[in-house]
Amino acid sequence: MPHVAMPPIGFSGAWRDAARDLLRDGVRPGDVTWTSEGEDKDLFVTAPLAVERSDSVASPSVPKDFLPLAEAAICHSGPGRFSLSYRVLWRLQQDRALLADRADPDVAALHGMAQAVRRDNHKMHAFVRFRELGTGQTGRRQFGAWFEPQHHIVELSAPFFVRRFADMDWMIATPGLAARFVDGKLSIEECPIRPDLPEDDADDLWRTYFANIFNPARLKIKAMKSEMPVRYWKNMPEARLIPAMIAGADEAAREMQQKMPSVAHLRTERVVRRVPLAPEAIRSGDRPETIAEARAAALTCTRCDLCRYATQTVFGDGPEGAEVMFVGEQPGDEEDLAGKPFVGPAGRLLDDVLVEAGIDRRRHYITNAVKHFKFVPRGKRRLHQRPDAHEVERCKWWLDLELSLIRPKLIVAMGATAAQAITGRADGIIRRRATIENLPDGLPVFLTVHPSSILRAGNSLEQRDMRREFMKDMRALAPLLDKG
Ligand code: URA
Repeated sequence: MPHVAMPPIGFSGAWRDAARDLLRDGVRPGDVTWTSEGEDKDLFVTAPLAVERSDSVASPSVPKDFLPLAEAAICHSGPGRFSLSYRVLWRLQQDRALLADRADPDVAALHGMAQAVRRDNHKMHAFVRFRELGTGQTGRRQFGAWFEPQHHIVELSAPFFVRRFADMDWMIATPGLAARFVDGKLSIEECPIRPDLPEDDADDLWRTYFANIFNPARLKIKAMKSEMPVRYWKNMPEARLIPAMIAGADEAAREMQQKMPSVAHLRTERVVRRVPLAPEAIRSGDRPETIAEARAAALTCTRCDLCRYATQTVFGDGPEGAEVMFVGEQPGDEEDLAGKPFVGPAGRLLDDVLVEAGIDRRRHYITNAVKHFKFVPRGKRRLHQRPDAHEVERCKWWLDLELSLIRPKLIVAMGATAAQAITGRADGIIRRRATIENLPDGLPVFLTVHPSSILRAGNSLEQRDMRREFMKDMRALAPLLDKG
């Protein structure tokens, strides 16, 4: 009986070659055994075949869906991955529509294996946590990570990391194999022992990020564990926080509840209190003369449609005599409920960076280009939506009012929407960051990115780099504030 020994590295190509040769020689699935180094014999080999034939297949052909399916399935860690894939390939020679029959036990098993592998692969993309190891001889920064996948996915996953982290050297070690990317070249090698990867400050960043996005009032333990399965926790620095967060969730949710304005979602009540076209009314004589008056007037603003869905207007906050005005985009979910700007995740990140840069937020006025939260509902969540040019333009009336009442000596515009509202241009924020532009009346504007762009970055490395760049901007800003 023919026997195929699959190598631990490069088994995908090896399986394809072997399957093609076996098929060409007419070797029936029940007449071949498969093994992979370090694993027991492939257990499916004795399973009865639905179709058997011994004629050779001159030119094997497969529907286009089969190869990606088999390539995923053969990464499964369960027994039978190679023989099952070969058996389905064999049967496809007689029944090209076989894959569409999800009730067929072979097809169902193959899809099940492929699905489990793809899920593990996605989790690997999301949950690998790199640690910085220094700079290599090539001058590139070096990173290492330890990950424990459920299936044999190191080779499958590696191209994703190559695309994502092309400008650095890295190694992802797993029990069995490691993917190494040095000077632009990927290699897969055996990994006999777990490398020593000391904790670094990215671990703290992950924990800060996780603590910031955690909302105790929306905690669904089952959904969370399905999204971030417990088996991956041990190699994720932020997962250390989870047990304590779950334990304290009820208490934290109660506290949040108490802090919320009691009219948060009573839209009807807001509508009753609203004075139509308030800004026009104000223009005709009642122009607010203090920030407190402006804040009260803004509560009834109907200058654009955003007021219809947001909980309340979130006006600027800070001392009336502030010499610096920070401008963001628009309130987020937490700001909308609390009625204050920058109190949610982006605000907490901003606070941390300002403290580290030696800037005292309490001395400055902080506001947004748009004063109502714009969102789309997704189940119980409200997902942030960027305000459009019309909404920014309509809300500029309030921003100009704030500027005329606060009369800052310097504006800090954070992100493209703030840049648009203040300078009239949203383009090139990265190019313009940490520079000063002057408004026609000479008022200087310091440009930087929005802190939530850091929170939205795809992974810890990007976040760390973006936070570092944002910190540089704030450190460049700090001496300008001291002069004010
Ligand atoms: N993002 C903003 O631009 N402003 C806030 O108040 C919160 C998040």
